[in-house]
Amino acid sequence: MIRVADAIAALRARLAAASTSAHLDAELLVAQVLGTGRASLAADPDRAIAPEELLALESLVRRRLAGEPIAYLTGRREFWSLELEVTPDVLVPRPETELLVERALELIAGLQNPAVLDLGTGSGAIAIAIAAGRPDAAVTASDVSATALALAKRNAAGLGLLNLNFREGTWYAPLADLRFDVIVSNPPYVAAGDPALEALMHEPRLALVAGSGGLEALAAVAAGASAHLAPGGWLLVEHGAKQGEAVRGLLQSAGFARISTRLDLAGLPRVTEGELSR
Ligand SMILES: C[S@@+](CC[C@H](N)C(=O)[O-])C[C@H]1O[C@@H](n2cnc3c(N)ncnc32)[C@H](O)[C@@H]1O
Repeated sequence: MIRVADAIAALRARLAAASTSAHLDAELLVAQVLGTGRASLAADPDRAIAPEELLALESLVRRRLAGEPIAYLTGRREFWSLELEVTPDVLVPRPETELLVERALELIAGLQNPAVLDLGTGSGAIAIAIAAGRPDAAVTASDVSATALALAKRNAAGLGLLNLNFREGTWYAPLADLRFDVIVSNPPYVAAGDPALEALMHEPRLALVAGSGGLEALAAVAAGASAHLAPGGWLLVEHGAKQGEAVRGLLQSAGFARISTRLDLAGLPRVTEGELSR
């Protein structure tokens, strides 16, 4: 018989080769196959793991050792303290993206019933966090991927949020002549030949790669923004740590003022913003 505590200890050692969070991963995978939460594991460390549960656990461990993100194995990821469903159809939401949410909420703090657009919503993480933080806001979430959009809709419905609407299509194409107070986007920004893609091979290429230089999507988002912003509206985009200068240039060419780049928690340039001149 294998006890929960023994299984976690053994998995922790095996997963250390593939993960910097081996103990957490081990707990999440054991909790997943037992259909319980991590807190219950600590409360019952002597619980026996049944043979069929061990088989399921082994399959998950092998996938994790092959580099699959833990969020795809558990089907869940927390973002902005909200529990989201995540599948391989969408990028796993990253903690650094919370900077976009934080800044968007600051920019709409003084507005009543603000209109916000999240371009390339994926799991819906950014749009949902803003909609949850500002129930009076009208948040539009768009994506070119129908499967991503279906998941974003499920996530919004699961959290009981009613102030979101969804549009399918490329960047601004499905938005007709709608205008917003704030446009946020975490578009794909990795260059096609970037060796970093190797470690990201389980996530959708559509969510990661933006042409040979990595700036194609950011350029499209910046170029189309002025036609969809209210006067004095703001555009906020996430980008790669080395793309700050190039993105500030894109916003300048697109007619933005008060352009600046903010650092993420790791101290890396991560979000660039600009205000549409009135
Ligand atoms: C980096 S992911 C961001 C997902 C989510 N917003 C997040 O921060 O976790 C980029 C998203 O842009 C979407 N996307 C890629 N090309 C697009 C396009 N041409 N028009 C609209 N969305 C696009 C992808 O499907 C993906 O969901």
